[in-house]
Amino acid sequence: MPLFDHFDFAAPFYDRAIPFSRLEKMLEVLDLPVSGTLLDAGGGTGRVAAALQTSIDRIFLADISTGMLAQARSKKLTALCSYTETLPFPPDSFERVLMVDALHHVIDQPATLRELWRVLKPGGRLVIEEPDIRTSIVKLLALAEKLALMRSHFISPPQIAALFPPAAKIKIETEGYNAWVIVQK
Ligand SMILES: C[S@@+](CC[C@H](N)C(=O)[O-])C[C@H]1O[C@@H](n2cnc3c(N)ncnc32)[C@H](O)[C@@H]1O
Repeated sequence: MPLFDHFDFAAPFYDRAIPFSRLEKMLEVLDLPVSGTLLDAGGGTGRVAAALQTSIDRIFLADISTGMLAQARSKKLTALCSYTETLPFPPDSFERVLMVDALHHVIDQPATLRELWRVLKPGGRLVIEEPDIRTSIVKLLALAEKLALMRSHFISPPQIAALFPPAAKIKIETEGYNAWVIVQK
């Protein structure tokens, strides 16, 4: 773990700074409600997972920031300290897997996407929501995160899609500066 973690620092005010407001869109891209279990990988404070609780039976959240995990646990979410590159779950565990605004923060993007695909059940759906680096505003955001010495590395939605195996059925949706890579196993 790094000595200074930006997310540990931001955790106490993260939800107030970036409130979750796109529930309808999230339900649509995740194809919820459904019965089963959802993994929110890099799920942070659980601001998204908390809003999805009534749309699926069980939610696990995985993150590496102790500050963010503490916020998630205060919402009674099941929150595990785990790198998304090495998830502590058997293959084919989840009906739904979600990663919001976290792929550009992880250490190893190919390893993370391999893990998300591995733990997704056949017939399940995986959604990666990312700021779209092809837009000017996200290029500025990328620069700001570099200046803040964050470990960010943005890749475009087609580059994300290309990291999944050929068997993956993939759709990309965009709205403004947001992109969703929707993957069916
Ligand atoms: C911008 S926050 C987004 C949090 C949450 N998904 C949301 O939308 O509110 C990115 C999160 O990714 C987590 N993270 C970064 N690298 C990670 C890794 N390798 N494994 C697990 N979590 C990671 C950070 O700790 C942080 O909580």
